[in-house]
Amino acid sequence: MNMEANSTQNTNNHAIVCPFHRQGHINPSTKLSLNLALKGVTITFLNFEHVQQEITKASGCQSNNNPFKAVNFGQTPVGDIRYQVVSDGLPVDFDRTGRLMEYLDWYMSGGMYDQLEKAIGKIVLESTPKVNVLIIDTFYPWASKLARKFGLRCASFWTQPAIVFNLYYHVHLLRHYRHFDCLDKRIDPIDYIPGLKSIDPKDLMSFLQDKDPSTKMHKHIFHAFHDVRSVDYVLCNSVQELEHDTISTLQTLIPFYPIGPILLSGPTKTRVPTSLWAESNCSEWLKPKSHGSVLYVSFGSLANFSKNDVMEIAYGLMDSHVDFIWVLRPRTVLDEPNDILPIGFEDEVRGRGIIVPWTDQVTVLSHQATGGFLTHCGWNSVLESIWHEVSMLCFPVFADQITNRKLVVDDWKIGVNLCEGRTIQRAEISAKIKYFMSQKPREVLKENIRETRNLLQSALKADGSSEKYVNKFIEELAK
Ligand code: UDX
Repeated sequence: MNMEANSTQNTNNHAIVCPFHRQGHINPSTKLSLNLALKGVTITFLNFEHVQQEITKASGCQSNNNPFKAVNFGQTPVGDIRYQVVSDGLPVDFDRTGRLMEYLDWYMSGGMYDQLEKAIGKIVLESTPKVNVLIIDTFYPWASKLARKFGLRCASFWTQPAIVFNLYYHVHLLRHYRHFDCLDKRIDPIDYIPGLKSIDPKDLMSFLQDKDPSTKMHKHIFHAFHDVRSVDYVLCNSVQELEHDTISTLQTLIPFYPIGPILLSGPTKTRVPTSLWAESNCSEWLKPKSHGSVLYVSFGSLANFSKNDVMEIAYGLMDSHVDFIWVLRPRTVLDEPNDILPIGFEDEVRGRGIIVPWTDQVTVLSHQATGGFLTHCGWNSVLESIWHEVSMLCFPVFADQITNRKLVVDDWKIGVNLCEGRTIQRAEISAKIKYFMSQKPREVLKENIRETRNLLQSALKADGSSEKYVNKFIEELAK
């Protein structure tokens, strides 16, 4: 978003922003709030109590203080961003990751809805300027109901690429043509989704490949995609030119606004604390490393692995003899969390590899020493990698990551696969890492990634597509 060119304009718009509670949603919602505030929209950012507590613990900042107050855009005023902490109705220390199914029950049964209803009701009643829109993550299955309750417009915030939205939106077609939710599933390419020429069933999101489509997770997603048909706007963290056909087609069906890339990095760097885990600073370690020599390894905030997979990745990295930073998040292995690395691993890689629980990913990606990203293809990671022109070695784990890999490797040719199947073996991993980090393959990818980056950058210029859609959204709100 073109921040320098857009000093604060006075509008009477007031948006309540309600992000989903995980890292890959908190980051873009935070930046979206900043972007809109810079354009004169008053923001009330709702944060869940347990998220607030995790961020506070990780960053050491003062509990309940408005973290947006710390932002400094130089001469440009940040705008009016208010901050409110709300309970999701469960105890703060409830293990939302380990007890995911119970959490989903709470979520679906309306427990969380009631809490948000109370909080939003109070803000609507007491605020000036009057609240006119609820910007809420698409994954809330009752988003439009919540907005209507208070006579607000509903803007659904979609943090994944448009192709993924399009596939969920047309899940009825996948059912009809027997590519999903039937016993004798077809395996031929899918060529009937509007705006999508063809997709192989193996590239569908993991939830559309599952044998049992009746789990709580599936119900939750399908409810959300039923609800999204009633919203007033969909704000998508993608770019018109990047997914042209998909987005143009969606725009004939629903008010779809591609306003990406919404990145915590960007033309103007901001630091609102958002990390759910304490960040290890890797800059000193990276300093002496030569240009493009380090492989950054991270599988995002949600993916879990078996102990065996972690071992294979560790041996693969060890045998590759490549320098690396590996983000190994706490609880990456849920069922057997202890001794997940080979004995003596850290001694073996000392000097050329470090393992950290979490880091400032954007800072690592922007460092001159970082030459490649072994990634799970989470959408934020893909956008950040493009933005910093770091080509990708792809190991998608679940959800949209599977489909995002297709975009990165097959369509845009800015990354390569780590392995062909889901089973990973150390020999294949080390050979692939060695090959990927050798100069030649990255030279080809580099050219493509530069072009893709230019496209993202153009979208944010004053006459760029994303900038136009954000301005159009704000104009629409004022009507
Ligand atoms: C998942 C989905 O796969 C993703 O597509 C969706 O939009 C959100 O949920 P997640 O596993 O969180 O995402 O990955 P990703 O989308 O890449 O987001 C992770 C965020 O955490 C990125 O913004 C990244 O910069 C940040 N991060 C990651 C760090 O700041 N430090 C780290 O060590 C690792």
